[in-house]
Amino acid sequence: MSASVRHIGLSLGADLCWPLCFEAIIRELGGRVRFGGEDIDIEVERVTIEPYALKANHRYDVVLDRLTHWFGTSREWIKKAILMDGTYVLNNPWSLQSMEKQTTYAAMTRLGMPVPETWMVPPKEHEPSEDLAPTLSRYAKMFDLGVVGKQLGYPMYMKPYSGGGWKGVTRIEDEGQLRAAYEASGTTLMHLQKAVDPFTKFIRCVGIGPQLNPVTYAPSAPLHDRYTVGQADLTPEERSSVEDVTITINAFFGWDFNSCESLLSGETWHPIDFANACPDSQVTSLHYHFPWLVLSKVRWALFCAATRRRMPPNLDWQPYFDIADRDPEEPLRSKLAAYGDLSRQRLDATAFDDFCGEALGDLEAIAARYFESDEALQTVRQKVMSLFPEHEVDEFTDLFWQRIQSAISDRAAAATS
Ligand SMILES: Nc1ncnc2c1ncn2[C@@H]1O[C@H](COP(=O)(O)OP(=O)(O)O)[C@@H](O)[C@H]1O
Ligand SMILES: [Mg+2]
Repeated sequence: MSASVRHIGLSLGADLCWPLCFEAIIRELGGRVRFGGEDIDIEVERVTIEPYALKANHRYDVVLDRLTHWFGTSREWIKKAILMDGTYVLNNPWSLQSMEKQTTYAAMTRLGMPVPETWMVPPKEHEPSEDLAPTLSRYAKMFDLGVVGKQLGYPMYMKPYSGGGWKGVTRIEDEGQLRAAYEASGTTLMHLQKAVDPFTKFIRCVGIGPQLNPVTYAPSAPLHDRYTVGQADLTPEERSSVEDVTITINAFFGWDFNSCESLLSGETWHPIDFANACPDSQVTSLHYHFPWLVLSKVRWALFCAATRRRMPPNLDWQPYFDIADRDPEEPLRSKLAAYGDLSRQRLDATAFDDFCGEALGDLEAIAARYFESDEALQTVRQKVMSLFPEHEVDEFTDLFWQRIQSAISDRAAAATS
């Protein structure tokens, strides 16, 4: 007889593939983990959208949320669940709601990270409102965009201050292009950011709890080839550097699941885009890295559920600022290591490793079996069918399936080496 039960809720929108794999792997684990001398039953359910009373209780210990960034009903339900029921939610919804790309640039610059020089310019046009004319006529200062461009230098990127899936991003080589891009920007509030150019490596590092996966990213390849197959080509020091950057950002903002883009220029890693707290999780983008994603979500969700991990009630930034301010002569790499250690503590990295060792010893073998099964293949096919034209379904299902198979054999080889 099981002594206790934990409920994991999946708060989903269009996601199709990873939830099916997540549910299947929990099922293959027998819907149960043994931890601390106790058998813990794990129930996974999809969170539904419906009216709810402020005081209504619910049964979820952990919610993996993929809706909060755009769907208000679920976001407000999740916020009340944290406050009233002590639910642990990936990610912190308040932080997700309020930390735009601009804020994340400011915060990591405050910690000394070499975010490329960035300017904000008032938008070209405004939505009409009663107060608009008096506000602008009293306070909006005329400015010469060409002068801003000269101060920042070319090439640069114009991007929406709030980020979001490569929409409205323009590379700009000269003043003419800057003026044209601004004219076309309408009401969107834009950044101008100095390009990291040239760069030698482009890494997108995905973090789930304390688990990190730096992947070489090819931004101009078609979507299914942007995450490159295989382990990123990084020296141990480079790997440790991008990992420290990523875990620091994630722990700082309360994002258990996020990705961070960093570009290497000379010896310096420049983080350029790291407010991605609902990263792409589709097999059609991640393919080779998809098993890592699913297994990392399974491990972290089970750890949070089994140990009854608590949401930190605030983000508590002062310890990071104390490291930033402690010695102006201390090199950034050394401060980064200290931020990384603090972040690993906040994410309970050691307890997490112990939990995985004790409760999830069989997980790799179970996952290897699952990712060779017809059920997994049909899940991949279903996702491909939802995105690709009919005549490409066989070809792309096979491509993603083969990449998953090589990931599974690479994982097995790594485990025995
Ligand atoms: N400062 C920069 N230096 C070099 N490339 C950049 C820079 N900013 C953006 N890019 C390029 O533009 C892409 C989209 O910009 P990004 O900041 O990642 O926006 P989004 O939030 O839309 O993903 C990046 O993946 C990168 O290829
Ligand atoms: Mg990006």
